Amino acid sequence: KNSVKCCTQSNFVWPRISFCFQLEAIMVEMQDPKSGVKGSEQKLNVTTIPHVIAGKDIVAWVAEKMKITAEEAQAFSTMLVAYGYIYPLQNHKKLVMCNDDTLYRFQTPYFWPTQKYCAEDTDYAIYLTKRNIRKKGMLEPYEQAHYNHLHDWLNHKWDFIVMQATEQYKAGKERKKADRVVFDCQERAYWIVNRPPVCICHSSVKHFVVRCVSCVFIFLLLVKYITTYKNHDPFLAPCVPSNPWQTDNDTYWTLNMRRVELPTKMRVERWSFSLFELLSDLRGRDDFKIFLKKEFSGENLAFWEAAEELKWGTASSMSSKAESIFKTFLAPGAPRWINIDGRTMGLTVKGLEHPHRYVLEAAQTHVFLLMKKDTFFRYLKSPVYKDIQKKALNPEPHNFSPAQLEANANNRGAGIHPIILWQQEEEEKAKAAAAAAPVDVKAMMNKLDRKK
Ligand SMILES: *[C@@H]1O[C@H](CO)[C@@H](O)[C@H](O)[C@H]1NC(C)=O
Ligand SMILES: *[C@@H]1O[C@H](CO)[C@@H](O)[C@H](O)[C@H]1NC(C)=O
Repeated sequence: KNSVKCCTQSNFVWPRISFCFQLEAIMVEMQDPKSGVKGSEQKLNVTTIPHVIAGKDIVAWVAEKMKITAEEAQAFSTMLVAYGYIYPLQNHKKLVMCNDDTLYRFQTPYFWPTQKYCAEDTDYAIYLTKRNIRKKGMLEPYEQAHYNHLHDWLNHKWDFIVMQATEQYKAGKERKKADRVVFDCQERAYWIVNRPPVCICHSSVKHFVVRCVSCVFIFLLLVKYITTYKNHDPFLAPCVPSNPWQTDNDTYWTLNMRRVELPTKMRVERWSFSLFELLSDLRGRDDFKIFLKKEFSGENLAFWEAAEELKWGTASSMSSKAESIFKTFLAPGAPRWINIDGRTMGLTVKGLEHPHRYVLEAAQTHVFLLMKKDTFFRYLKSPVYKDIQKKALNPEPHNFSPAQLEANANNRGAGIHPIILWQQEEEEKAKAAAAAAPVDVKAMMNKLDRKK
């Protein structure tokens, strides 16, 4: 039943699931009675709890098993805690693995993400109601917030939820004390990791529709993606003129260097798929710049690039970069002032007082969407794009005979190594950037004025 449900919360369901399966294989090994981590009974608030493990034992086991350092093992184990495979016994909200005597337990497979990877709001409501009964209305603040929200939202079936919760509560009371405590811990640990976000929509019908629509939507997106990219997928389409790794002929690399004069038709076609594709390809970005220059609207892209620079650049230059970005694009009367909405502008300017890598994220997204909605489509229809489409190369596929292939292999020279090429281009790019240091239009205007 659970496996067919789809989650709106996680965008990347499949990679996540396959990743979880790998983690679960390790969890099974970790619990092997012979070679796994040894647990022991522990007394906790008068109740004896079986199979309790100390954090340091888990870390040591992982380090030994995976042949990694204790630090790496600790980071890995923290991930197991974050995914809910192991839960802390005492401080249940602290989802990290401590390399000391802190006590943990293994989550029962029933609560593993792949078994129940999409938490249902109704299940959570039942859980909270049950907890509310047990705690006599004294829920923790975050639980209370969720409870109130779910109560409004699932009001039409609240009777059912209360009934279920009461049943479960009664069934729980009949268990042995130790079992009950263990189960409570497991359940609480599960909901700490998996509680659904407080959603903004107000009817569960709407929510259901949103979920189903998003399922179909993801499927359609996938179909669209595959149709668009199938000729560009090296597994599905041949590499033209030929795959250098197979034919020992470098032409493919030479034709597809990062900043070639004339790109191939395939590459130009790819730019039209999305603005993201266009900007990801430096040659495409250059072409887009030519278009923007003709339109006198290069600020948005320049700002987008500056934001990328801040995001990926060195930490030491961060504050000077942030300052220069502020002066160039955001300050009142800035030489390349960009037009973004007041709220985003306010947030960004405020953020730049204490700059960090992602301080421009909101403004960058805003500018990206602006370009995507408008400039990008105009670019695709523009003479600039039509021109490059016409000029683009369409290499003939190589058709080497076995004898030629052997000759190619024998003549295999040092060739152009892609990495070296890439380094060269990076250097060129840096030089170009230095040469085209931001021109302060205002200062120039002042100079001109003075000359008059
Ligand atoms: C043990 O008692 C403490 C404090 O009374 C409480 O916070 C904690 O949740 C209890 N632990 C369990 C497993 O019941
Ligand atoms: C690759 O093959 C083409 C076509 O046969 C040939 O003209 C070119 O010289 C070859 N290049 C190298 C580096 O071998």
